[in-house]
Amino acid sequence: MSDFSIGEKLKVTLFGQSHGPAIGCVMEGFPAGQKIDGDFVAAFMGRRAPGQNAWSTPRKEADQPEILSGLNADGLTCGAPITAVIRNSNTRSGDYEALKDVPRPGHADYTARVKYGDAWDGRGGGQFSARLTAPLCFAGALAKLYLEEKGIHMAAHIARIGRIEDAKPDAVNPSLPFYKPGAFPVISPEQGEAMRQEIEAARSKGDSVGGAVECFITGLPAGLGGPYFGGLEGKLSQALFGIPAVKGLRFGDTQNFGSENNDAFCIRDGKVQTVTNHCGGILGGITNGMPVYFTVDFKPTPSIALPQKSVSLKTMKETEFTVQGRHDPCVVPRAVPVVEAAAAIILLDLVQGE
Ligand SMILES: Cc1cc2nc3c(=O)[nH]c(=O)nc-3n(C[C@H](O)[C@H](O)[C@H](O)COP(=O)(O)O)c2cc1C
Repeated sequence: MSDFSIGEKLKVTLFGQSHGPAIGCVMEGFPAGQKIDGDFVAAFMGRRAPGQNAWSTPRKEADQPEILSGLNADGLTCGAPITAVIRNSNTRSGDYEALKDVPRPGHADYTARVKYGDAWDGRGGGQFSARLTAPLCFAGALAKLYLEEKGIHMAAHIARIGRIEDAKPDAVNPSLPFYKPGAFPVISPEQGEAMRQEIEAARSKGDSVGGAVECFITGLPAGLGGPYFGGLEGKLSQALFGIPAVKGLRFGDTQNFGSENNDAFCIRDGKVQTVTNHCGGILGGITNGMPVYFTVDFKPTPSIALPQKSVSLKTMKETEFTVQGRHDPCVVPRAVPVVEAAAAIILLDLVQGE
């Protein structure tokens, strides 16, 4: 499988570079007959789009997907591969000139040069750029449309910025969605305000801050997944770790003692359920019918405005430099729909396989 493809029955391939003419995706194996609700897709992609508020990069992009294949004359998916392109318009490649020689600490500039040599298109981070999460969100929006019609819902929220944590959802009966459309993506508005201040404090110092996103999925049938390498955790992990800046992942939550951690079984409405949900809805890699939830850790944005130490790859000498360009002071708010998108693609792949 290529570095840019994920999934088996539903295979999603991303393409493009940050400052190339366009980015996009190809979706193979998407079920035929799905009505594509353009407003839903635009609203979902808008949650990730840059340049909208103080906590994201000022690089403004329309992020308007153009669908080139996969729909019939009535706008329904027709079973052919779905191809979508998103034009890059607001590029400032000059900001990246110095990085051809001096790699940014914490970014992929150095490892990209090792892997691809001088031919690497490092403008805007090339194919490592989080711009590619726009077509990922397009694919995720389509997957979400399909899943929602099957009663499978998902919602993510910012779990943490720096050391400031959001309120915890009820892991047995989470009430989705966690926030109103357009709002800062948290459950507790007070904690959200403290998080925004934390991001602004980092930004005003020329620094960045990390955090975490928590995602809940309800309506999944029991029995999805498998043991060992067929496990749902492993399949979701591969997609979630593909998102730039993801450095950790935990399913459910773990308690100190087995007596606290084990979820007692019970019968509710004639069905086997659990009283608590520390396992995050997955036992032995297989869904148990309870909500599935996981927390994704994001590192602080590597491109910061403070002077940093690096090296010149031409002279092989150490040097000090400052990153130019427009960057997110914290990637977490924009990453919330990206986490949902990655999960939706994997779940559609699995649900179709059943
Ligand atoms: C939504 C989102 C936005 C991002 N924005 C930036 C950014 O503005 N500047 C930056 O240097 N990194 C940004 N990143 C992170 C980098 O793309 C990432 O750190 C880099 O590709 C190296 O990969 P790694 O951190 O996974 O090792 C962003 C990541 C995400 C998910």
